[in-house]
Amino acid sequence: DSNMDLWKEEFVEMKDVFSIKLKRRRFVGQKKGGMLLGITVFVCLKKDNKLKDCAINFNNISEDHCHSWFKCVKEILNGFPNRPKSLKVFVNPNSHKREATHVYYEQVAPLFKLADIKTDVTVTEYEGHALSLLQECDLHTFDGSEASRRWGVGWEVSRLGQGGWWQGSRVVCIGGDGSTSEVAHGLLLRAQMDAGRDTDYILSPVRAPLPLGIIPAGSTNVLAYTLHGIKHVVTATLHIIMGHIQPVDICTFSSPSKFLRFGFSAMFGFGARTLALAEKHRWMPSNQRRDFAVIRTLASLKPEECELSFLPLKNSLQDSQETVRKKKERPKKSDNKVQWHTIQGHFLNVSIMAIPCLCSMAPRGLAPNTRLNNGSMALIVVRNTSRTEFIKHLKRYASVKNQFNFPFVETYAVQEVKVQPRNKIGYDTEENVYLQATFTEGNYPWNIDGDLMEGASEVHVRVHRQLINLYGGSIDELDDSKVMCSCL
Ligand SMILES: *[C@@H]1O[C@H](CO)[C@@H](O)[C@H](O)[C@H]1NC(C)=O
Ligand SMILES: *[C@@H]1O[C@H](CO)[C@@H](O)[C@H](O)[C@H]1NC(C)=O
Ligand SMILES: *[C@@H]1O[C@H](CO)[C@@H](O)[C@H](O)[C@H]1NC(C)=O
Repeated sequence: DSNMDLWKEEFVEMKDVFSIKLKRRRFVGQKKGGMLLGITVFVCLKKDNKLKDCAINFNNISEDHCHSWFKCVKEILNGFPNRPKSLKVFVNPNSHKREATHVYYEQVAPLFKLADIKTDVTVTEYEGHALSLLQECDLHTFDGSEASRRWGVGWEVSRLGQGGWWQGSRVVCIGGDGSTSEVAHGLLLRAQMDAGRDTDYILSPVRAPLPLGIIPAGSTNVLAYTLHGIKHVVTATLHIIMGHIQPVDICTFSSPSKFLRFGFSAMFGFGARTLALAEKHRWMPSNQRRDFAVIRTLASLKPEECELSFLPLKNSLQDSQETVRKKKERPKKSDNKVQWHTIQGHFLNVSIMAIPCLCSMAPRGLAPNTRLNNGSMALIVVRNTSRTEFIKHLKRYASVKNQFNFPFVETYAVQEVKVQPRNKIGYDTEENVYLQATFTEGNYPWNIDGDLMEGASEVHVRVHRQLINLYGGSIDELDDSKVMCSCL
């Protein structure tokens, strides 16, 4: 460093500061006292989409001076409205290489502590644990008051705003897409119950009152990647601490008779069959399991015969009309200005996504033409084609342009989709015999944010604009020069 730096004036903005501490000289193991050296402020720095924390020391040995600075800065910090003071944390210990617990205690918890955020941690014990806690309110109030503990399950939580954990605390999930999606689903379901809605049939859901923080520690982290523009634990943690909140679109999935669940993205066909197969082989290590499932499903690639109806996005009809094949299109009568469209045929893979779904394999996203929160959802369908062409299409996700420029791929911007499978094709391979046996009674596999859902024969998907708040800042758009070509 040159001498010039000594004279350079530097500053930090208060909005980037997340903690202040008095700095003292202490001996190893000493907990109290020690000579005052000054104050340390902790700042959040941003470079591209990555956030990191950094400490700045101000030396001053006057107790009075340091205390008044401390008090004053603390007051300013307490004034930021979106910054959480307490957090309900769900850790999925089984995600990926069982590293989520370690990630939490090594990387996340120290930052929460530094920011003086109280935490209440649940290490989940089984799939659906977080959901049942959120749903059945098997949670003591988070203010830790004895009264609420005694009243126990369900009492306090149902009194929204009465000082239960709903009020001060926010929810954080550490895991992969499956666990995150489960918690988002749970939070929204809880919100419907509290609003007195019938959760068996949800048409126009109410918003979740609590924001959700997502810390990536799973084998797939599409949600965190999409939200933060990067898969990075410290970035995700700092977004929560700094109170960066953004509203995000989410979908409801229903059968004709029943509400099924909330979710950000869905795949039907190839993307769901690989997951179903991988789930059958849970004993394999997760990476190996996925590769195995992809290869086996590719080897016995079979299209699903189905009917897809969709309601195009208002004002974006031109988009879809270009791609809808004239012969196959048969709009239904409707009072609305936008009309339902129906396409039929054999489909290899169908994606329905409310958010762009960024991942390392698809840096622009699996659905690059949709946004996090503009109320639109992407419907991408792959019609039957040869295996070679299908693989070419999958590989194209890694590139920047023309991802969908294949004669057998169609994309639509939609608000609702209905999927009605009519699969009667013969199954020959061993795996498919199993899958066929499982899905004959009108059950077809769906991949909802990496979770297997045994769907009903007809699934209705609707996008709901900005229904949930997630922690995360607006991300820098990927600029073309930064994308490297990579291969499957
Ligand atoms: C198809 O399946 C792959 C792999 O499971 C997935 O990543 C992709 O986004 C899916 N969608 C389309 C439309 O190909
Ligand atoms: C959302 O953004 C996408 C991509 O920019 C666009 O195609 C779509 O029309 C937008 N939806 C709305 C409702 O504005
Ligand atoms: C799908 O396409 C493949 C390759 O073009 C073809 O062999 C197969 O018969 C087709 N399947 C159906 C159900 O049309």
